[in-house]
Amino acid sequence: MYRIGAKELEELKRVLDAGDLFKINGGLQESRQVEDKLRQSFSVPHAIFMTSGYAALVSALVALGVGPGDEVIVPAYTYIATAMAVVGAGAIPVLAEVDDTLTIDPGDVEQKISPHTKAIIPVHIQGFPCDMDSIMALAGRHGLLVLEDACQADGGSYKGRRLGAIGNAGALSFNFFKILTCGEGGALLTADRQVFERALIYHDSSAVAYFGDQLSSVETEEFCGGEFRSNELCAAVMNRQLDRMDAILADLRANKKYLMDGLADACRFVPSNDLAGDCGTTLALQFESEAAARRFAQADGINGVLPIDTGKHVYRHWTPIMKKRGALHPLMDPFKMEANRGIVPDYRDDMCPQTLERLAKAVYLNIDPNDDQNALDRKLGQIRSALNR
Ligand SMILES: Cc1ncc(COP(=O)(O)O)c(C=O)c1O
Repeated sequence: MYRIGAKELEELKRVLDAGDLFKINGGLQESRQVEDKLRQSFSVPHAIFMTSGYAALVSALVALGVGPGDEVIVPAYTYIATAMAVVGAGAIPVLAEVDDTLTIDPGDVEQKISPHTKAIIPVHIQGFPCDMDSIMALAGRHGLLVLEDACQADGGSYKGRRLGAIGNAGALSFNFFKILTCGEGGALLTADRQVFERALIYHDSSAVAYFGDQLSSVETEEFCGGEFRSNELCAAVMNRQLDRMDAILADLRANKKYLMDGLADACRFVPSNDLAGDCGTTLALQFESEAAARRFAQADGINGVLPIDTGKHVYRHWTPIMKKRGALHPLMDPFKMEANRGIVPDYRDDMCPQTLERLAKAVYLNIDPNDDQNALDRKLGQIRSALNR
């Protein structure tokens, strides 16, 4: 969350005063406006606003036809929710290394493809765009589907296209920690009409059939899914957040660039697949060793974080995945399902050594979009002196 305040408060008051909080059938149509704005600003034909990024991921996987018997390749460095969504769809997550950019390594993805692979989930972690040209090319060569996890990259882009709008489907998150927020929320983006129809049904499977005329132009037959429908209060907040999106990104990127320009001769940065499209939330420095990274991160005034220390973002800490506990009921557990027999990997702590090494030699510094030049110059001074210690 970067900017939230009077505008969102006004919208909340307006919606509360109207007493019209249900997404469908109400006069306000706040959720519909969110979806219109997403379609427009992400240049994508279909968008569904929902309760979370996880909801968008699992709805997308179901809609893409992923299920038991399928492997889905995910990066070993992503929030656990990415892998859990795969399990939530009944499929098996297969881990791929990240490369120097700290995003999924297309070369390792290719190594991990098997006859059971159905999809790849590139994750634009920390707002860093994945190498989408390589991912889309290898998906095309192998007949695989691509679901972009853009939950940490709301509004970012790759070669001029918004993240989440490049693959067969994409997911955004609007939880409290994300670039845009309505407390909790998410969105699914897709250009594929069939994926849209299936996700529409899956994300709201009781109300979609009961309220309004939502299925009037839908050809997909109804099936049982979940209830990930959002509400007009969250949508009202999201409408103002989406209005703020480009200014937040512009200020993040400008401040990141100012720091990078000021440090160009002093350190090595984690390389980017597209610096112009990077969200600018994080300045990522690369070091020769973990010890050097830790020394820098802990220096006075730095408040740096090594990505290896980010808990459930690192596969070793995905406890329920590592321990193959895919559901409470054994018959609902993808790791025990007959259809998945023979494709469940041996998840080991050391299975993605390149990822662990890269995460241990990087340091993240948060970018504040509200910093003025004085604040940025002060930071530059602190970073330079920490680098010289
Ligand atoms: C990379 C990634 N994927 C998925 C999610 C899930 O998003 P949500 O918390 O909105 O369900 C998150 C949230 O932290 C995330 O960082």
